[in-house]
Amino acid sequence: MNFEYQNPTRIIFGAGNLSRLGEVAGGYGKKALLVTGGGSVKRSGVFGRAVASLTAAGIAYAECTGVEPNPRITSVARGAEIARKEGCDMIIALGGGSVMDASKVISAATLYDGDPWDMILHGQEHVYVPTEALPVITVPTLAATGSEANCGAVITNEETKVKSFIQIPLLYPKAAIVDPELTVSVPKDQTAYGVCDLITHVTEAYFNGSGTTPIQDRFAEGVILTAMEWGPKAIADGNDLAARTQIQWSALVALNGWVNVGTNAPYPVHMMEHTVSAYHDITHAAGLSIINPAWMRFAARTNTAKFVQFAERIFGLKATATDDLACALEGIDRFEQFLRSIDCPTRFSELGIDDALFETYATDTLKIVNDGQGNLPGIPVMSVADMVGIFRSAL
Ligand code: NZQ
Ligand code: ZN
Repeated sequence: MNFEYQNPTRIIFGAGNLSRLGEVAGGYGKKALLVTGGGSVKRSGVFGRAVASLTAAGIAYAECTGVEPNPRITSVARGAEIARKEGCDMIIALGGGSVMDASKVISAATLYDGDPWDMILHGQEHVYVPTEALPVITVPTLAATGSEANCGAVITNEETKVKSFIQIPLLYPKAAIVDPELTVSVPKDQTAYGVCDLITHVTEAYFNGSGTTPIQDRFAEGVILTAMEWGPKAIADGNDLAARTQIQWSALVALNGWVNVGTNAPYPVHMMEHTVSAYHDITHAAGLSIINPAWMRFAARTNTAKFVQFAERIFGLKATATDDLACALEGIDRFEQFLRSIDCPTRFSELGIDDALFETYATDTLKIVNDGQGNLPGIPVMSVADMVGIFRSAL
């Protein structure tokens, strides 16, 4: 293990903390661009409470509404334009991962005269790496991505059908106000997708990491077991604040870097899913819940011992040996059953997606990330044919 770790995001966690938004924001600026999605925060009353807190603290604000799920670069450009015109000196993201991701890129795009798409990795020759950005405060209303306390952002170019990311330390939010009360209005399906997303964040590093991170393995297993215990409770009763709290914290720790530190893992399932959602605009974790078990069955044949560990520690199965492939595959079946039990899709056909573009997803994925030899990094590395085979097995 050889790594450097620093996550500078100040985390203010717990029910009721939305009321502190104004006080916290006062430490970073005087006029905020308040970024929101399609209206859920207005319907739930969260927006009104956020504005009341800002106003009481003497913070002015301008609005950027309508950031769509799978946020588009056009929304980023629009937000940056408003922030410049209104003279905003900070960005407040009030919403799910899509709003938070758009907000992070808006924070840099506001101070950049060029096309904000230059910042998103998409196989282009010129990548603009921003060096300055407005401070960002995240206020997540959905437990899923962990975007509130990490430095990544995933953005879609709807014209070219590319969904890709930027991940640089500059984009760490200054503060995250993580108030599980804000998630009680999340519908059952989005709650379940959040559970699937957060579990996938840790399975990626668990199965694709260096293999010499026993503490990280235990952290990851703790996150998975916690999500499998409390997720169904949050889905069954959206007002169960104890369950919402555990899921919110699980989602944050799953992708704030700490669980994965030292693994140096690529995220192949995410890379493949992003390409599929670029074409079909599906919910991110609906794609993950289809691709992840299919990928696991492929990878278990190479990395059997790790999948045996997963089967034993997560599902209490007993293997005959560390290369007991049947046990490894049984663990994956159990995982898929869990996803089905929370009504996540596990086949493309459930989303009306056929095999017409399987090769296109695979080749497009490699345009964003590859190992220099035409493969997608992971354990094992994947060729176009491997990816197509995985997609086909999930038809
Ligand atoms: O748009 P509104 O009206 O707010 O409704 C949203 C949206 O329809 C709704 N919602 C959010 N909070 C709610 C609520 N509805 C009722 N009550 C609330 N409290 O939920 C829907 C989905 O929202 P979205 O933000 O799209 O979901 P999520 O948080 O899952 O974010 C998904 C995006 O994040 C990216 C994904 O690719 C996708 O674009 N990711 C970002 C990551 C990161 N930055 O670290 C990592 C992830 O792996 C992921 O790729
Ligand atoms: Zn994800």
